[in-house]
Amino acid sequence: MRRLVIATHNSKKAREMHQILGTRFPGLELLTLADYPGAPEPEETGDTYEANAIIKAESAAQFTGEWALADDAGLEIDALPGELGVYSKRFAGEDTSFAEKMVRILANLEGVPEAQRGARFRCFVALAHPETETSVFSATCEGRIAEEPSGAGGFGYDPIFWLPELGCTMADLTAEQKHAISHRGKVLAEVADHLATMI
Ligand code: IMP
Repeated sequence: MRRLVIATHNSKKAREMHQILGTRFPGLELLTLADYPGAPEPEETGDTYEANAIIKAESAAQFTGEWALADDAGLEIDALPGELGVYSKRFAGEDTSFAEKMVRILANLEGVPEAQRGARFRCFVALAHPETETSVFSATCEGRIAEEPSGAGGFGYDPIFWLPELGCTMADLTAEQKHAISHRGKVLAEVADHLATMI
C-alpha cells in the first residue's frame, strides 16, 4: 500500500486521522475525499457505528479504486440513553450548532450528580479496498459530562467531555494529548499496527 484515502467530508476528523497516521507512516501518501471532486457522500443509513463506517469506507474505495479508511463515532451519555450514540451528529437537529447541542445536553443533565454523568466516546474504523474484504476496528474513551464547556481544542462535543484522570475536558488538551487517549487515537493505533503489515 502506497496511498490511503481518508474517507470523510469532516475536515476536523480528517485532520486528526492525517496527524495520527502521517506521524507513523511518513512515506504513505494520505489523501482525503477533498482530493476526489465528485466523491459521493453516502447516506449513513446503518443503525450501528460499524455499519456506517463500512458504508463510508466501501463507498470511497469503490469511487477511488484505492485503500480507504472511514470512521464513525459518537458520544454515549448514560443519563440520556439512546439519545446520542450513533445519532450524535443529528442530536437536536443536524443543522443545530455544537455550541447549542452542548447547551441542550447540559440543560438535560442539570442537577444530575457527578457519579451519574458517565459518558464515553466510541469509534469504529473500517478499512476497505475494492478487491478485499473490509476490516473493522473499534475503541472507546471513558469520561463524564462536565458541568460547563471548557477548552478550544478538538471538535464536536469535546468541550463538555470531562476526563476525570486528567482533570480537564477533551477540548483542553493539545492535539497530541488528545490522540494519546482518545477513542480515535486508540483505534487508529490499532489500525496502524495492521497497516504496518501491509506497507
Ligand atoms: P460521525 O462519526 O461523523 O457520524 O460523528 C458523530 C458525531 O460525534 C458528530 O457530531 C461528531 O462531531 C461527534 N464526534 C465524533 N468524534 C468526536 C470527537 O473526537 N470529539 C467530539 N465529538 C466527536
